[in-house]
Amino acid sequence: MPALTVEKVGGRIGAIVSGIRLGGGLDAADVAAIRAAAHEHKVIFFRDQHHLDAESHEAFGRLLGDLVAHPTVPSVDGRYALGIDNEHGGRANQWHTDVTFVPAYPAFSILRAEVIPPYGGNTLWSNTAAAYQELPEPLRVLADSLRGVHTNDYDYAAVRPNAPSAALEQHRKVFTAVTFKTEHPVVRVHPETGERTLILGNFLQKLAGFNAPDSRALIGILQSHVERPEITVRWQWRAGDVAIWDNRATQHYGVDDSDAHERTLRRVTIDGDVPVGVDGRRSVLLSPESVPEPRYGIASGASTDGEVAEKARERAAA
Ligand SMILES: [Fe+2]
Repeated sequence: MPALTVEKVGGRIGAIVSGIRLGGGLDAADVAAIRAAAHEHKVIFFRDQHHLDAESHEAFGRLLGDLVAHPTVPSVDGRYALGIDNEHGGRANQWHTDVTFVPAYPAFSILRAEVIPPYGGNTLWSNTAAAYQELPEPLRVLADSLRGVHTNDYDYAAVRPNAPSAALEQHRKVFTAVTFKTEHPVVRVHPETGERTLILGNFLQKLAGFNAPDSRALIGILQSHVERPEITVRWQWRAGDVAIWDNRATQHYGVDDSDAHERTLRRVTIDGDVPVGVDGRRSVLLSPESVPEPRYGIASGASTDGEVAEKARERAAA
């Protein structure tokens, strides 16, 4: 058995994994233990992984699945790792699940802290399986039948009130270089654990079949269950920390409260499946017709059941 230990941080979400040095050379038993811990605790934290750089971060990511690039935001140094820093309006000051504006949004995100401010800049995660389980039964039944439209075209100024307007405009231009719209079930069946989880968060624009006020009210009720402190964990970063979360069973929130101090993290994302609702209906890309390929690697969400990843492998082999 691997020598790693797993200690819970919160009652419903979060655990610290120790006794392991992350990298591309881990054996299958360690990788299986990490995957199992991520499924069980939804977000897992590793301290003191200072040895990791862009390359070994990606090499470790490949042990969990195919790496995918962000569909619109260019990567750092032409690699898969996405820069999350306060220079470029990169703080997500709102609850969200990564990249839900495309159908097969990432399965896992792996975030590595390079530079951490002297105070603030924490990240919160919420367990969306627990949020679903804790809904009153009539609300669960309703949620099972709902579909939501997610888009990357939303009000940035409201989400990042502290960002300078030029930076905000630049970020918006890059982030929405292509406007995506995807319809997801509000409740998906997790492809690995079988749990039911909620697909909500700030990319969710409206519920299909409802007028705007009803849609807003219903989303507000459901989302309020995701944000209950009892099912969240708050992480105070140190340089060298790594967080891995199951992006199919969580939302997260980056708190923008470290003033002008530098905060630099690097994120690698692992390809996910097209979500399937309780009724067996899959998510559908409404626009554009297909997810364009980014300049480097395969796009997050372009993959449908591994087809795009397969094509990328064929291209690489040719
Ligand atoms: Fe995020």
